[in-house]
Amino acid sequence: MKILVTGGAGYIGSHTVTELIQEGFQPIIVDNLCNSSVKNLEGIRSVTDTIVQLYNVDCTNEIEFKEVFEKEKDIVGAIHFAAYKSVEESVREPEKYFQNNIGSLKVLLKLMEHFEVDYLIFSSSCTVYGTPDNLPVTEEAPFKKAESPYGETKQQCEEILQSVAIKSISLRYFNPIGSHSSGLIGDCSADKPANLIPIICEVAKGVREKLIVNGNDYNTIDGSCVRDYIHVVDLAKSHVAALKYLIKNPKKGVFNIGTGKGLSVLEAIQCFEKANKTNVNYEIGPRRDGDVEEIFSDNTKVEKLLDWKAQISLEQAMQDAWNWEIKK
Ligand SMILES: NC(=O)c1ccc[n+]([C@@H]2O[C@H](COP(=O)([O-])OP(=O)(O)OC[C@H]3O[C@@H](n4cnc5c(N)ncnc54)[C@H](O)[C@@H]3O)[C@@H](O)[C@H]2O)c1
Repeated sequence: MKILVTGGAGYIGSHTVTELIQEGFQPIIVDNLCNSSVKNLEGIRSVTDTIVQLYNVDCTNEIEFKEVFEKEKDIVGAIHFAAYKSVEESVREPEKYFQNNIGSLKVLLKLMEHFEVDYLIFSSSCTVYGTPDNLPVTEEAPFKKAESPYGETKQQCEEILQSVAIKSISLRYFNPIGSHSSGLIGDCSADKPANLIPIICEVAKGVREKLIVNGNDYNTIDGSCVRDYIHVVDLAKSHVAALKYLIKNPKKGVFNIGTGKGLSVLEAIQCFEKANKTNVNYEIGPRRDGDVEEIFSDNTKVEKLLDWKAQISLEQAMQDAWNWEIKK
């Protein structure tokens, strides 16, 4: 089965392409490489012994994107990763985010309708919940005021998906970390890392002097913010599970994709140090605007319906993150 993967050269996309191949699907990548590199495609080739077709096309360019659908007949479904993802940049340049993240989805939906492609898996985020009232957070929790324009684009995309005929599943990712165990596929993003684990890696490597822990006076286990960190390979596998489910159950759905366990920033540092037998220089700084105190996933629905569960340990995720950092 041919599956179109927009943003398939990116961090989560490249891991998902690998899993799709291993599960017998034929992924076709559409990626303009604005935040990734062909290095991931070489990695996919080494790991799977498969050359994946890449179209270097901007998904907001309807004319060029249409040509992909025309050339690649018999596309069965799509997984839509292509988007900008920097929360900080979205605050500075909101219009850029609305245009790309919402624009690319609209073009994709139009083309899917035209070419009668029925199934879509969409990359959403737990950011749609804002600061949830209850933990662990379930899919029933309402959308709160988005903390950033980036978060708003994910909320709006999910709303658009509810309003069209195409059957879709939105996967609300928690915090993806780590890399493929081969060390050949990972985050090739051009951006300066803004997420905790890549920053920890840079500090451990000596690229950055220290990590600033933003706040140690939250109402959490040790005062630092709590997140649900999931290995990117587990996350990638959830797309395959969601696709199989959607083909068998063609209706709309949303699923949380996390481990169900919260980990504080300080615990994450300790876990990284222990897993990699190294030290991470950090100091406590002030709270950061817009940070959610604590969020982790309720996985009841996804485990029951998609028959998927995160399997890889945090220690392994920390080792894989470090392995990518030192090899890249
Ligand atoms: N990484 C995270 O922490 C996280 C968390 C929640 C949700 N998400 C979402 O998951 C998806 C993938 O994230 P990622 O971490 O792999 O990001 P990434 O930047 O590594 O991958 C996105 C890919 O899309 C491509 N792209 C962007 N705009 C495009 C366009 N208009 N046309 C064609 N290609 C385009 C980029 O070149 C890149 O390869 C995004 O939608 C992101 O918002 C990511």
